[in-house]
Amino acid sequence: MTRKVAILGSTGSIGCSALEVVRAHPDRLAVVALAAGRNRDRLREQCEAFRPRLVSVATDEDAIWLKGQLSFQPEIVFGAEGLMACALHGDADTVLAAVVGAIGLPSTEAALRAGKRVCVANKESLVVGGALMRRALEAGGGELLPVDSEHAALHQLLAGRATADIAELRLTASGGPFRDWPLEKIRAATKSEALNHPTWKMGPKITIDSATLMNKGLEVIEASVLFGLGADRIAVTVHPQSQVHAMVGFADGTYQLQVCANDMKLPIQYCLLHPDKVPGPVPPYDWEASRAWTFEAPDLARFPLLGLAFDALRAGGTAPAILNAANEVAVAFFLEGRLGFWDIQACVRETLNAVPSEPMLDLPQVLDADRRARAFAETWASA
Ligand SMILES: NC(=O)c1ccc[n+]([C@@H]2O[C@H](COP(=O)([O-])OP(=O)(O)OC[C@H]3O[C@@H](n4cnc5c(N)ncnc54)[C@H](OP(=O)(O)O)[C@@H]3O)[C@@H](O)[C@H]2O)c1
Repeated sequence: MTRKVAILGSTGSIGCSALEVVRAHPDRLAVVALAAGRNRDRLREQCEAFRPRLVSVATDEDAIWLKGQLSFQPEIVFGAEGLMACALHGDADTVLAAVVGAIGLPSTEAALRAGKRVCVANKESLVVGGALMRRALEAGGGELLPVDSEHAALHQLLAGRATADIAELRLTASGGPFRDWPLEKIRAATKSEALNHPTWKMGPKITIDSATLMNKGLEVIEASVLFGLGADRIAVTVHPQSQVHAMVGFADGTYQLQVCANDMKLPIQYCLLHPDKVPGPVPPYDWEASRAWTFEAPDLARFPLLGLAFDALRAGGTAPAILNAANEVAVAFFLEGRLGFWDIQACVRETLNAVPSEPMLDLPQVLDADRRARAFAETWASA
């Protein structure tokens, strides 16, 4: 069977890796729709290479430009409606949700509701709308598979296991570029230092989230949504080599670990081809290479956003949406040079203190909480 795939965020780090996976499996995977933001040159190349039926760009102007550039005539749409059209394309049985930020929430939710296999890289949509995503999955009767390497690892480790057997889920974190920096140095970290991730090459937002450890905090919430365990049964271990991606601790005191190269093409292929395990674009793990693995506890004093994420998960309701919105605003301000590195955690903390959380009801309410948190964070960050 050939899976027909819509890729949302095709021009990003995950989107490009996903297209390499598609290229490696021409008999199993075909591209039906591509959605991107502003990188129209890269999108044009992708369109020529993969010939999708539907393409979405950010603006009307980019749509007209792309139409004039292509040697064939796909349908070209734009904006939030265009992104949604790609998520819901009738010929696509599989959607890779790989846009960055909570902007991806409505399209991820709609694809789940439509009963598709939804491979979710866009962790923000699970963090912000967790319970709603599960509801959409149940209503649609499709599949939700996690692309995040830690969660893809857990999905494999947990296959066929009863919840009662499980003591804890343990996510590994590289620790980011500031893992062994003293607090005073972290407080004054620059943008180029924060963008210099030691083990993963990723888009700018997640790279900053890795430097603050907010990425791991978002992943803790994501794991809770995906696997139905609370904050007291999810833990984080710093593992700078990024070769062990997650661990499951069982009730008898034993652990199982998942090991593979730190290459996102592996979890992407896992999701797209699930349950098949076939050779792909990443060579087998090299056990002959000599290497040492180390593990240590995260330091919440130097990386307070990880603690705030645990707090938001415990608070529940719209608290994770507020946490995420404030973080998106603060990271954008930091990348624009308008906030310092240490201000990111202060902005998130202040927003969580100022914007009350509520039990989660529906999508409009969650999007409203997201809007209110963004408004507060923007005002705080601009002051
Ligand atoms: N990179 C990784 O290794 C990695 C690992 C695990 C999870 N993730 C998660 O995967 C998601 C994507 O990360 P990334 O690193 O691939 O980010 P990225 O490189 O910044 O790519 C983001 C993609 O989203 C597109 N986009 C942004 N706003 C959009 C909009 N309004 N409508 C349509 N498309 C839009 C961008 O388009 P343009 O570039 O054309 O503007 C780009 O294609 C994030 O949620 C991240 O946390 C990433």
